[in-house]
Amino acid sequence: MGNSRRLIASLVAALLAYALHAFGPSTHQRLLVLGALRWKLNSTPDVEVFVIRDTTHCEDLHYHVPSETLFTACEDDHTTRFGWFPPLANFDDAELGKRGRGSIHVINPKTLLSQRLVFDNFDSTFVTHGIDVISDPKRPDGEAVYIFAVNHVPDPDSAKARSQIEVFYHVIGSSSVKHLRSVWHPLIRTPNDIFARSPTSFYVTNDHHYSRHGLMRTLEDLYHGANWTETLHIRLDSLATNHGAYSTEGVDASVALPDMHNSNGLGHGRSATEILVTSCASGVLYIGKISQEPANTTITTNDLVAFDSIIDNPSYFSDPFASRWGTDHSGFLLPGLARATDLGRTHRDPKATEPVIVWLARPAKEKSKPGKSGAPISWEKRVLFEDDGNRIRSASASVLIAIDPKTSLETGSSTGARKAWLFVTGFLSKNIIAVKIDL
Ligand SMILES: *[C@@H]1O[C@H](CO)[C@@H](O)[C@H](O)[C@H]1NC(C)=O
Ligand SMILES: *[C@@H]1O[C@H](CO)[C@@H](O)[C@H](O)[C@H]1NC(C)=O
Repeated sequence: MGNSRRLIASLVAALLAYALHAFGPSTHQRLLVLGALRWKLNSTPDVEVFVIRDTTHCEDLHYHVPSETLFTACEDDHTTRFGWFPPLANFDDAELGKRGRGSIHVINPKTLLSQRLVFDNFDSTFVTHGIDVISDPKRPDGEAVYIFAVNHVPDPDSAKARSQIEVFYHVIGSSSVKHLRSVWHPLIRTPNDIFARSPTSFYVTNDHHYSRHGLMRTLEDLYHGANWTETLHIRLDSLATNHGAYSTEGVDASVALPDMHNSNGLGHGRSATEILVTSCASGVLYIGKISQEPANTTITTNDLVAFDSIIDNPSYFSDPFASRWGTDHSGFLLPGLARATDLGRTHRDPKATEPVIVWLARPAKEKSKPGKSGAPISWEKRVLFEDDGNRIRSASASVLIAIDPKTSLETGSSTGARKAWLFVTGFLSKNIIAVKIDL
């Protein structure tokens, strides 16, 4: 990528921003979401930040409740992501990308220790991005999990990516993760995140229509009417087979949710049939429904929550102490960048800092008038954590783990104070961090 092309892209971006400003109806909101109006950066004060060692560039993070284990996929190397990261249209160094050997980590949320799982049956390029983790339905909950992970493998025949999905199996408590198969399909073009419905049925988002840098990609990022991406559904005939690169044998793909602007993170919601889909650059969380009928793979969206920043991988925090302690603190957790407009300039710079913001959204207390579908009509959105990029750089995933209010009492904090551990990670963050926050 030549400097001149990058310069042109920035000029066009500036022009577009200007045009949107002059003519767009919802221009102010667009500029707010992209961070162009966020002149002053905030950092949540008075919190102790715990750094989890050996968690370099882990884009996604999941809390598997039955096993009380955090799962993440990390690059494990400070260089790969700055030379090869297709999701940010960085195809600079395919050789470096090819040498990428990321890994799956488990983190114990009590000790804050991260452990790289040893691969069984897998010794090839692993350029990490979104993951999902589901219990093995054939075993008691909490004994074993299937892990799905996006892998942005460089294509040997072009300077592009031949991104695919890896399916792994892990027995909780063991130190290894077994590779079952890779999944490739031409519809999986710019995969970002995964939602597994069963070991052989999953959803995956494409985040861009234009995979390479250029005018159209810039337009796609800035203009919220560019609803050119989708969520796919993938069905596998079997987990045992592996037909090699570019084989679609036994892989069925279809569009489950079309026409979204920059579809991005996927998450599990309040029930087995609720799916969370984010339109990242628009700053919108869609709350959708899937069917329990295996043949019906369509996603329908019932409700949306709009935020004043771009948002990435969503997660749902279900408050386990709600019934015992009266107030239910459950909600949707959305991490994002406070100033997305800077990303084009910073993402190749190992020393840059992208400021972050983490939101918690809950149905507003005065939900007296539910909407037609029974969904609450207003949302309370609270900034749970902010940073200017010095304590954590970029934020793409976050999870909350409640602290038993009894422990808070014992340690002498105010009566029954409700607290939780907030874990935040970013696609460019050196380490995952954990902070204790008030719910
Ligand atoms: C997508 O964009 C087209 C053209 O701008 C518009 O007509 C259509 O309603 C949009 N679809 C959705 C689902 O927003
Ligand atoms: C498929 O599932 C969706 C989401 O639950 C639902 O809205 C739709 O009616 C279902 N379609 C059929 C044909 O059953």
